[in-house]
Amino acid sequence: MSSWQKSDRGDAQDASSAPRVDGPRHVAIIMDGNGRWAQARGRPRLFGHHAGARRVREVVECCPALGVKYLTIFAFSTENWKRTQVEVAGLMSLFRRYIAKEMKALAAKNVRVRFIGDRVRLDAKLIQLMDALERETEANDGTHLTIALNYGGRDEVARATKRLAQDVAAGKLDPESVDEETLPRYLDTHVLPDPDLVIRTSGEARISNFLLWQSAYAEYEFIDTLWPDFTSEELARLCRNYGSRDRRFGAVKT
Ligand code: FPP
Repeated sequence: MSSWQKSDRGDAQDASSAPRVDGPRHVAIIMDGNGRWAQARGRPRLFGHHAGARRVREVVECCPALGVKYLTIFAFSTENWKRTQVEVAGLMSLFRRYIAKEMKALAAKNVRVRFIGDRVRLDAKLIQLMDALERETEANDGTHLTIALNYGGRDEVARATKRLAQDVAAGKLDPESVDEETLPRYLDTHVLPDPDLVIRTSGEARISNFLLWQSAYAEYEFIDTLWPDFTSEELARLCRNYGSRDRRFGAVKT
């Protein structure tokens, strides 16, 4: 059987651009290294975040050719509030500007955008823009881009557990029926498949509270590249590496 397939939009492609069947369907990225990238150039950390935001566009655009249907990116963690007020305010302003600026392009490129994370600490203007971008792209069926903003895996599981407990208390859920299929229905990611491949840039080999439940069987790539230097070619290489891995999900090959 050929290892090449038609694109998700159904248009026939030649072998040079067609996505690999055995590549990752869902890629999740911890975009790290913006601060060091800026420091190496003698510039403030926010300069690195702006350069990082420009990388997002290239990476989103190359997904269809790589067969990546779901892309989830870690933009701001529940721990990132501990940064200086200047950096936090600068990042929030960057997110507002990014959404306003990219809305039309994302919609036109058939990208469906979702946000995960807790919105309670986000400002009203940013929430309004997030809602607008989700609405504007909700009919799209190309790349599913999920942006994790004020997201923490433990926080997500805690919020999910609270809702699950409320359903039990309200008599909507039988505690005896709770199994490992139940909790994911309460997670922010409930409509998404689990990530196949989690990439972290900048040489750090940790997952920093990202998609804790969902990544139980993901493959990991920790690469030295700082996020503002990450390219579509590097993503293509990592997708090829993934294709050569042997995923057994705890089973033994027969
Ligand atoms: C981690 O690098 C990066 C962040 C906390 C912010 C990620 C944000 C972006 C890539 C920009 C915009 C994203 C969107 C969706 C518009 P770091 O600051 O911890 O780098 P360091 O480890 O070198 O200090």
